[in-house]
Amino acid sequence: MVKDIVQKIVSLCKRRGFVFPSSEIYGGIGGFYDFGPLGVELKNNIKRSWWKFMIHERENVVGLDSSVVMNSMVWQASGHTENFTDPLSECKSCHKRFRADHLVEDIRNSGKMNEYGLSDNDLDDIAKVITKIKCPECGGELTPPRQFNLMFKTYIGPVEDDATRTYLRPETAQGIFINYKNILDTQRVKIPFGIGQIGKAFRNEITPGNFIFRTREFEQMELEYFVKPGNDDEIFHKWVEERMKWYTKILGIKKERLRIRPHKKEELAHYAKSCVDIEYLFPWGWGEIEGIANRQDFDLSQHQRFSGIDLRYFDEKENKYYIPYVIEPSCGVERVMFALLCDGFNEIEGGRTKTTKPAERSEIVLKINRNLAPIQVAILPLVRNKEEITKKAREVYQMLRSHFVCQYDESGSIGRRYRRQDEIGTAFCLTIDFESLEQDDLTCRDRDTMEQVRVKIGDLIEFLKNKFNK
Ligand code: GAP
Repeated sequence: MVKDIVQKIVSLCKRRGFVFPSSEIYGGIGGFYDFGPLGVELKNNIKRSWWKFMIHERENVVGLDSSVVMNSMVWQASGHTENFTDPLSECKSCHKRFRADHLVEDIRNSGKMNEYGLSDNDLDDIAKVITKIKCPECGGELTPPRQFNLMFKTYIGPVEDDATRTYLRPETAQGIFINYKNILDTQRVKIPFGIGQIGKAFRNEITPGNFIFRTREFEQMELEYFVKPGNDDEIFHKWVEERMKWYTKILGIKKERLRIRPHKKEELAHYAKSCVDIEYLFPWGWGEIEGIANRQDFDLSQHQRFSGIDLRYFDEKENKYYIPYVIEPSCGVERVMFALLCDGFNEIEGGRTKTTKPAERSEIVLKINRNLAPIQVAILPLVRNKEEITKKAREVYQMLRSHFVCQYDESGSIGRRYRRQDEIGTAFCLTIDFESLEQDDLTCRDRDTMEQVRVKIGDLIEFLKNKFNK
């Protein structure tokens, strides 16, 4: 059943041009995806919404777009060369590789510890558990876990040696920390203030999976919010509230499918004092879509130490220098997109529009927030063999294109075209019919209520603008 829903979403994404496996004509490449015409619209809408909510609507937050490849010292200072690792176990028979911590987690979730002769406490000792379990693929013996660094290596210039080696960034955050002084020196920002960034991140995940949930190339939307030490706990909690507001009130994700999960001490990243995950209830269970961490002064202190540049902040009110603490809300664009697709996916057995073909009776309606819909408005002439009707419909299409993301569709029966648009979440369908020729109006159909109202073409832009958030 779970597999069924995920499979249906994956298939919809492929069939309708949201997401394609990357390099498909060459057999694909694990953990990489391409975003088709509808996928790129949806992703852009998510990113625009985040940027507006996190940056434009706040006086004390500015944006940044830093490079993907940075001096390798950045990764030494941040601790990523040493600590950005996952435990990897390999099957001695089939040579498949697994994340050892995920195998242990599977046992914890299955509640079958007794079968393996393990207690709850044993599960914290990954190396011990691995000796007791077998390869999930072939039943072979697993190697003891070794730490595998997730950063993709690359080399600068033609010579490939230690001196030219660096990495594709595994998080956008470090680009912000190394620009912290540039922002202080060029913008009139005062603590507390934030720097936000959206951009690609790369991780050589051992086991990418669950479609676009865990990939090797993805986009992050990250804010580093610099605060006075001592104010960090209170501001951390405020950001958790703010971020929940974005998911529920702005994106419209169902509240009951979201939860806040605080990290246990042993789970915390090397830089974090505290951290919570915002999780979404995916068809297979809860999964992290955002992490909110109190990174303390770890990153700035490290960069100050490694670069020799003074990164302290002079607080005029307090008349003293300090290294600010950092609160970081960080989420992945693709995970938010996947959560929206799962949240909005509705399959209606028997259909809700009149159809003559039984095979078409199960209908999909993608009820995502209309402000995020990849196509806002579809323009549909009732028939395509009546030139006055198609001409008028094309005129409406031309008129609306500079205001909304539109699609013109005249092929197939009107019922079929409605279904086609419902499936991709188009917010409104406009139908130009015989009456339109005399009355200069059309019908506007709401995706969610299926309510149809007649609107004068002269009033249409204003009418539709009022339906979307500016
Ligand atoms: N700067 C902090 C940081 O990178 P993280 O929890 O490792 O923290 C933040 O990542 C977010 O990035 C996650 O909540 C998730 O949404 C997204 N993310 C992380 N790894 C990912 C992957 N392999 N594929 C897709 N999204 C990922």
